[in-house]
Amino acid sequence: MKANSRFLIFFAFLSSLIFAAGTFTLPVLTETSRSKAAAIYDRDCYACHRWTRDFAGPSMLGNVSRYKENPKALFNYLKDPKPIHPDKYRPMEIEKLSDGDASLMVAWLFALLEDSTAKDRPR
Ligand code: HEC
Repeated sequence: MKANSRFLIFFAFLSSLIFAAGTFTLPVLTETSRSKAAAIYDRDCYACHRWTRDFAGPSMLGNVSRYKENPKALFNYLKDPKPIHPDKYRPMEIEKLSDGDASLMVAWLFALLEDSTAKDRPR
């Protein structure tokens, strides 16, 4: 194989890696999108979750912390919840979130993790 084509193959491989890693980006939060996220949370999540303590579901602070390094996995969970703690809880059942609402939710929950004193943080 010529050096040239080896370089090309390597380059194609590299760009596919970069592409795969870059497909998931969180939306940038604005005041408007934050209040949208808070409204979705009120409607679809608050019934079962409290921020710092376990309730009908596990504490949201703990939930989000576990995904700190992997926002995409949290997105996937919200789109399609799988059993996590079958010994303690029934699998989560929620209203279906659109892709846009699910990634907004992830961005907002991560922002609240960074700043737990934010005034739109749910109880
Ligand atoms: C009907 C009650 C209910 C509602 C509503 C609900 N959850 Fe849950 N949630 C649960 C339960 C129960 C679990 C634990 C499930 C398990 O262990 O399999 C859970 C677990 C989670 C987890 C933890 C996943 C993990 O890997 O540890 C996250 C994150 C989460 N919920 C986010 C949300 C968000 C965001 C909403 C709103 C869009 C929401 N939940 C709405 C009951 C609920």
